[in-house]
Amino acid sequence: MSHLNSENQDFININTIDDLITALMTEECDHYNDIIRSSNLPVHAFADYCSWSAKCYTRNCLVENEKFELILLCWEEGQITPIHNHGGEECWVKIIDGEFREKIYTTNQAGQLYMVNTINSKTNDVTYMIDFMGYHSIENLSAQRGLSLHLYAKPIRSCRIFDENSQQFVNKDLTYHTVAPLASI
Ligand code: SIN
Repeated sequence: MSHLNSENQDFININTIDDLITALMTEECDHYNDIIRSSNLPVHAFADYCSWSAKCYTRNCLVENEKFELILLCWEEGQITPIHNHGGEECWVKIIDGEFREKIYTTNQAGQLYMVNTINSKTNDVTYMIDFMGYHSIENLSAQRGLSLHLYAKPIRSCRIFDENSQQFVNKDLTYHTVAPLASI
């Protein structure tokens, strides 16, 4: 079943997580941007996939296959990612609930890191990153818990994160806090 509306090239009727997964599995990766932006997913749809930690935002795998990875990040107030890249893959972030701040960084010729842009996003906004755009960090700005949906194509097994202590980038293998029962489809 195609979700493509031939008149305006929008993807329609992506109103559930299952609809989204079906569209991502069926369509080519060059449609992922339209698919994630067109999807309309209510907060309550994610209730079964949430987990929470006072230590760090949690990474909850909804689907991981050869083509893409779809994960739900659950954030307590003020939680923030390290500055990181995306292992050479494409990354879309759709805000499911809350308000977030993305800071984008690049390095100069001497290898020093500096910030080039700040983007604030709210529920339903979508942002995009790929390594040639630089590095980013994401922070939950809401005075409450927040949820964001992350689509990677292809899956990201490891990335480079900026270690604040050594002031250097280091490799980090990425893991999940939870994995949905049908994640490996
Ligand atoms: C992460 O995947 O842990 C960081 C969030 C992102 O950049 O997508």
